[in-house]
Amino acid sequence: MAAVTDIVTARSGWRDDFPALRQMVHGKPLVYLDSAASAQKPHAVIEAMTHFMRHDYANVHRGVHSLSQRATMAFEALRPAVASLINAPGCDNIVITHSATEAFNLVMHGLGRAHFTDGDEIILSEMEHHANIVPWQMLAAEKNVVIKVAPILADGSLDLDALEKLFSPRTRLLSITHASNVLGTVNPVKKLAALAHEHNVPVLFDGSQAVVHGPVDVQDIGADLYIFTGHKLYGPTGIGILYGTSDILEKMAPFQGGGDMIEQVRFSGTTYKKAPQRFEAGTPPIIEAVGLKTAIDYVQNIGMQAINDHEQLLLAAATAGLSTIPGLKIHGTAPGKSAIISFTIDGLHPHDVATLLDRYGVAVRVGKHCAEPLMDRLGLSASIRASFGLYNNAQDVTALVTSVIKACDMLR
Ligand code: ALA
Repeated sequence: MAAVTDIVTARSGWRDDFPALRQMVHGKPLVYLDSAASAQKPHAVIEAMTHFMRHDYANVHRGVHSLSQRATMAFEALRPAVASLINAPGCDNIVITHSATEAFNLVMHGLGRAHFTDGDEIILSEMEHHANIVPWQMLAAEKNVVIKVAPILADGSLDLDALEKLFSPRTRLLSITHASNVLGTVNPVKKLAALAHEHNVPVLFDGSQAVVHGPVDVQDIGADLYIFTGHKLYGPTGIGILYGTSDILEKMAPFQGGGDMIEQVRFSGTTYKKAPQRFEAGTPPIIEAVGLKTAIDYVQNIGMQAINDHEQLLLAAATAGLSTIPGLKIHGTAPGKSAIISFTIDGLHPHDVATLLDRYGVAVRVGKHCAEPLMDRLGLSASIRASFGLYNNAQDVTALVTSVIKACDMLR
């Protein structure tokens, strides 16, 4: 185990790239363990966005002047960066949205509202984030579409046998998370895509908690649609990505109407651009695209596999440390899980524990994590969640474990 600590410590140099992590909170050095909610930003991202605003900012796609052309080039540079990150076949497969949530609503509208009919079925799972539940419920209320829910097993992994039984001739979409934001479970996406395709059903993966923790290859997986957010990937808020195969994107109806997504507008009728521009109405998140492109360059420069290896060591060390605390239960122990640990402690209210952890400088999330159906399934009103990013190190793990022990002593 000494070797593990050495490796974790050696890689902690990445932490120096994140200015926010140098601060004290309540007189203690900040230990940031809430990256699953939102990740801190490296210096490179902050600088790129600031530089762009100082020197190159203008609206995109519309101007002949130099600044507009420079801004357009900077904005469009995001598409090849995303394509490279997730191995998309090309830039036309990358739709830039204002958030992952917007991307889900876009698919609900473009695919569901436009093409699904009374009695059609969508398969979700018990471990979905609200962003992959609520839009489908809105569709269900409107079009009488049926939502079927695949259960999870006791360790937090997906019940694949039960999921398989949910397919029927009326199934129109499998929409499921790649990695759970509560349990850390990483779903067998390649197997899920193959299963869906055996039934001639397209598959949409929620990749917000997956692209941040390791390599993703949408072509190898066989994803028809893949969504992720920018702010969990060390980029800014206000930007999300929808990947789609050309076939599915061309079938989808436009989402919002407005400028930039049209070919021609007349009062007698309007024609739309092809994908991806057809889905990008109005002024896009230009400054955010510059930031996200820089964030992608940053993580790719480190290497997604190196990030995964590093976080897995932290996960193993934190799991081992927390497991020694009497009465502490970890929710989600599926093999191959990502670096997220949700836990509760017998007799203690999660909010009390998390509030004390903050006093010790340790930032964790507490609550239902935008996954209320999952929390109901687990029989929990709330849990404490520690989530790791590339900047965490062995000292953070020690601080987490010792602070939880201290909080237990205080509260018991
Ligand atoms: N969805 C985010 C989380 O898991 C906010 O915390």
